[in-house]
Amino acid sequence: MASLHDQIGELRSQFMNELKEAIHSKDLENLKVKYLGKKGPIQALMISLKNCTPDERPLFGKVINDLKEELTLHCDHSLARLKQVELDARLADEWIDVTLPGRRTHKGKLHPITQAMNRIIDILMGMGFSVQLGPDVDTDYYNFGGLNFAPDHPARDMQDTFYLNTGLLLRTHTSNVQVHTMKNFAPPIRIIAPGRCFRNEDISARSHVFFHQVEGIYIDRNVTFADLFSTMDEFLSKLLGEKVETRYRPSYFPFVEPGLEVDVRCISCKGTGCRICKHTGWLEILGAGMVHPNVLKEGNIDPEQYSGYAWGMGIERLTMLLNDIRDIRLFTENDLRFLEQFP
Ligand code: PHE
Repeated sequence: MASLHDQIGELRSQFMNELKEAIHSKDLENLKVKYLGKKGPIQALMISLKNCTPDERPLFGKVINDLKEELTLHCDHSLARLKQVELDARLADEWIDVTLPGRRTHKGKLHPITQAMNRIIDILMGMGFSVQLGPDVDTDYYNFGGLNFAPDHPARDMQDTFYLNTGLLLRTHTSNVQVHTMKNFAPPIRIIAPGRCFRNEDISARSHVFFHQVEGIYIDRNVTFADLFSTMDEFLSKLLGEKVETRYRPSYFPFVEPGLEVDVRCISCKGTGCRICKHTGWLEILGAGMVHPNVLKEGNIDPEQYSGYAWGMGIERLTMLLNDIRDIRLFTENDLRFLEQFP
């Protein structure tokens, strides 16, 4: 009996020492297995009961069971306490301030040139035109010859045109689509052609080596000058506002006869004169005219039966005028401070 008491006392104090050293819940779980598990000292004592006399057995059994309960209780209490400590530490560590403002994301939007093109396309599709695309890389014929440019016309000069060493060139205007369309479709033709153009010019605030145009062409029987005027007036009032005033000036392009330039009353000063209109009160917006009979012939269209008008406008120029932008290079520099100013 005395020796069992000694053993139990010894076990208890050993256990209590190790309990003090358990810092993590994991240590405690290990401790519990070590003392109370199937291979532990308590179980060993239980097994040794079989060596006792039948009289001693109930008493010894109770003493061992009491110890078992006592240690179990210690383990469970400490485990609960350590788990709570660990949970508190984790909560403190993983704390999130839900009142912090979120990270700002930059929402992408369309480039101002794309926006202007889409707007123009929208208006003209609403007026019955459909979109026809043509190649950026084309032959001299489609860009010049088929458009009634004389072989010695200065625009063909190396100064203005980018020639590729394959004998092709980068189109200098979207008018090449006129010729492609006439060759591919029979009248009535009513198309617009948005796209990129290239000119071999010095890059400056006012000119760039590439820019965008929207071309338009309408060919049918009995198309007259009056149709050109009314369509341009309608288009420009839809683009710039109901009250816009237009002015038609004679001009020259080889592929139209007669040729025109179309001005609108300055949207900034309303005609009183300002820096944007260079104090003329007018803004030059587009080139236009009646399709030259030679061009119709190149497109296999009989000029005796059909007539048409065409126009072309520069999108960078228009966007600059509408927004008082003073440098065309801003469109291609991708400076967010510039781009973010557009809706
Ligand atoms: N292609 C001409 C230009 O680049 C514009 C234009 C198109 C003029 C159609 C008349 C008719 O300036």
